[in-house]
Amino acid sequence: MKFQRKNKIASENFVANNAGTLQAETETRVNPTAQTQTLGDYALDLITRRGVLRGGVAGGALFALSACMQNNTPEKEGLFSANGKYTAPECEFTEVGAGTDDQLHVPEEFEYQILLSRGDPLFPGMKAFDPHNQTPEEQEKRFGENNDFTALFPLPKGAKNPDRMLLCVNHEYANEPDLFAAPEGKDGRYSRAQSDITQSAIGVSVVEIKKTAGGKIKYLQDSPYNRRITLRTTEIKISGPARGAAQMKTSADPKGETVIGTAQNCAGGVTPWGTYLTCEENINYLFGTDTPENISPEELARLKRFDFGGKGNSFYRYHDRFDPAKEPNEPNRFGWTVEIDPYNPASVPVKRTALGRFKHEGCTCVITKSGYLATYMGDDQHFEYLYKFVSSRKYDAARPEKNQDLLDDGTLYVASFDKQAGVNWKALVFGQNGLTPANGFHSQADVMIEARRAGDVVGATPLDRPEDVEIHPVTGKVYVTLTMNEKRTETNDASPRVKNIHGQILEITPANGDHAATSAQWDFLFLAGPASAGGTPHPETDEAGMLSCPDNLAFDTYARLWVATDQGTDWHLKSGSANGLFAVETEGKKRGKSKRFLRAPIGSEVTGVTFCPDKKNLILCIQHPGAEGSENWKAFGRTSSFSDPSTRFPDFQPNMPPRSSVAVIRRKNGEDI
Ligand code: FEO
Ligand code: CA
Ligand code: CA
Repeated sequence: MKFQRKNKIASENFVANNAGTLQAETETRVNPTAQTQTLGDYALDLITRRGVLRGGVAGGALFALSACMQNNTPEKEGLFSANGKYTAPECEFTEVGAGTDDQLHVPEEFEYQILLSRGDPLFPGMKAFDPHNQTPEEQEKRFGENNDFTALFPLPKGAKNPDRMLLCVNHEYANEPDLFAAPEGKDGRYSRAQSDITQSAIGVSVVEIKKTAGGKIKYLQDSPYNRRITLRTTEIKISGPARGAAQMKTSADPKGETVIGTAQNCAGGVTPWGTYLTCEENINYLFGTDTPENISPEELARLKRFDFGGKGNSFYRYHDRFDPAKEPNEPNRFGWTVEIDPYNPASVPVKRTALGRFKHEGCTCVITKSGYLATYMGDDQHFEYLYKFVSSRKYDAARPEKNQDLLDDGTLYVASFDKQAGVNWKALVFGQNGLTPANGFHSQADVMIEARRAGDVVGATPLDRPEDVEIHPVTGKVYVTLTMNEKRTETNDASPRVKNIHGQILEITPANGDHAATSAQWDFLFLAGPASAGGTPHPETDEAGMLSCPDNLAFDTYARLWVATDQGTDWHLKSGSANGLFAVETEGKKRGKSKRFLRAPIGSEVTGVTFCPDKKNLILCIQHPGAEGSENWKAFGRTSSFSDPSTRFPDFQPNMPPRSSVAVIRRKNGEDI
């Protein structure tokens, strides 16, 4: 998600009632220390750096296969030529054209099916979804809203190419105007029931899926593994340095050890020991107040650093915990990475505070050369940072129970990019690098709860909305999407364009191939957008393949990179086409070439790209169809709404609003993707 949609009721915006106290717009610059230097001759620098790095990589040894990959294990066979160089095959498909309409488009030799949509029943005996007849209790048992990250877990655990799998899906956020035909409360506001339904539509779903004889995949409504984890009801344990800290204590939880719910679950990750990581991103949207004058100036400053104060929803009207004037510490209990055991529906999810608190986009895991766990994490907001966590204990493949709390103990680093093409990973450890009482840090809990401010103090590089991170399964290089930053007025090495509306993809090569190393080389894979806008597209990239605003990344079972885009409401000023999924080359002469595989329905973005281990099925999510930028589609020309939507994807039935959905895509002839 780029931004949460503006609530249609102005009085729901607590800033509107208290102008000047908090920022009125959430898209203001919230990082006060984002000082950047101007880069003189950027183009020359880029060419030089690329030359140096390419030479270095070509002359060096390829890294070993990552011990941990998200869901997939690429076979070494077919990935290396006779001389040992990596040669992933180019993915062959008929490119989907540029354009915009209300449909999902895949290449002509492919087909798609819808696997799950918002509201689908996940438990026995439940009826089909009726958007005009919803309750909070029902929504607790139905597939949630705005599906984002997905991950697959084999059944039985450890199976190589199973017919049955657990599909975990994030439900990033929910907006009342998308869920209901009209407000049903007093004064034209959303009612408490509607507010609670909205809370229940956020969180995570765990759903058993099964391949059928005909090759399609279906979900099992009756599976005992099915589970909903929601903002409204799910008890979640707090672990790591911030557990029990004073800033984590609330009237409902005086010990600071347990919180109800997870929310704004954007991307995530999979641990090598088979658990699901879900990341809390735009948590500011959960909170609101009518009395900001009752918030202390210190607390207000902390809230502003997290962009609180903008377009909140109705939650605070019915639940004091979502009002920082009444429950000032509740915001500190969101913005974390949450670990879930999908194999045990009774397991208590855990917020892992050693990974820091910020607007977590995702959490990509890898085992380091020496056997430790590293996770890479973006903080998706303008001028925010890239982070890495390295565990203090080694991963123990032989004894899974030993890994249970590996994410509680380790070092969190933040990235600084410099002109000499180096990445310095700076440790966020209490007592080091200025993280001392003199700067307002009194414990490691303080450092983790205010990880953004800790990044300011140690001199992290402010980036252009760092979103997804994925690790090439053969080369070990780390790819980072910087979606865009139209607010940038000064450049830095990693962000060479002012008013950057197209974004870029970074490629980080850890020193000695070791993800625990505190230094790395880096390069651009490319700057997105056309050359006329400062982009560096491959010469063979055509108009349909020209992408803007890279967001979600995935490597397939042949170690090929796929990039999904999120252009937001101003898509017409960027690629001029609806969002899509693109195959992007990372090696050889075609490095940087992108080709459009999919075009999403108007107003949606593509999320949750996961390749099935059978190599034949690709799972992805279409998030918020109709919601963003429908007014900029000439054929529609107005804001999309529940009753008057720009698309009714995927049902295309007159009584059904558009629904966020999980799709499965495969070749019509059944061959590998
Ligand atoms: Fe939820 Fe940064 O996308
Ligand atoms: Ca997004
Ligand atoms: Ca995202």
